[in-house]
Amino acid sequence: MKIYLFSGSPNADGLTAACCRAAEAGAKKAGAETVWVNLNARKVERCRACGNGWGTCREEHVCTGIEDDFQQLHRQLAEADGLIIVTPVYWGGLSESTASFFERLRRCEAFKQHLPGNRQSILRAKPAVAVAAAGGSGRGTVSCLVDLERLLNHLGAEIFDLFAVTRRSGQYKLAALEACIAAMAAAGK
Ligand SMILES: Cc1cc2nc3c(=O)[nH]c(=O)nc-3n(C[C@H](O)[C@H](O)[C@H](O)COP(=O)(O)O)c2cc1C
Repeated sequence: MKIYLFSGSPNADGLTAACCRAAEAGAKKAGAETVWVNLNARKVERCRACGNGWGTCREEHVCTGIEDDFQQLHRQLAEADGLIIVTPVYWGGLSESTASFFERLRRCEAFKQHLPGNRQSILRAKPAVAVAAAGGSGRGTVSCLVDLERLLNHLGAEIFDLFAVTRRSGQYKLAALEACIAAMAAAGK
């Protein structure tokens, strides 16, 4: 099983990175391969809502509005058997790098099932785990998880679990996250 692990923090050694390491360890335990994508190290601009707002991606399912790293990551993600998103909680929501990538991905993938041709999202029925890493007050983790849940639903993924990790809960939640990813990978074998 190949699991794509997206992290959306500029910090190489913060709470987000700790969550990613725990997720990676869980995948390894179950014999799964992880592809760790650090979104802050990639050039992915925010969607410009081209055309009348619906964009050409609605019908073409690719982004032609902005040429950057999005296209390569989008193509690559088609090979994923599972997905993990770890975002730091910023203002009670997703970090900017996480939002930029996944909002563009949603636009490309979410409409496939509604159009003729019976195409499906590249993440359709694939297991997914989302993590909101709140290293500040801990406020806003729930609203961040609500955004992540909506995003995964629009992408057609099968939500395996949603995690709120704070400074206080980190110690025990990281162990739970590792176990969660091991279980997800084992189920996908
Ligand atoms: C712009 C910004 C907004 C933030 N908003 C929140 C917030 O709403 N709730 C919270 O608990 N922490 C908040 N934080 C703190 C981050 O969640 C915290 O720094 C977290 O550890 C980031 O992950 P990192 O350690 O991987 O960088 C915010 C941080 C930044 C930079």
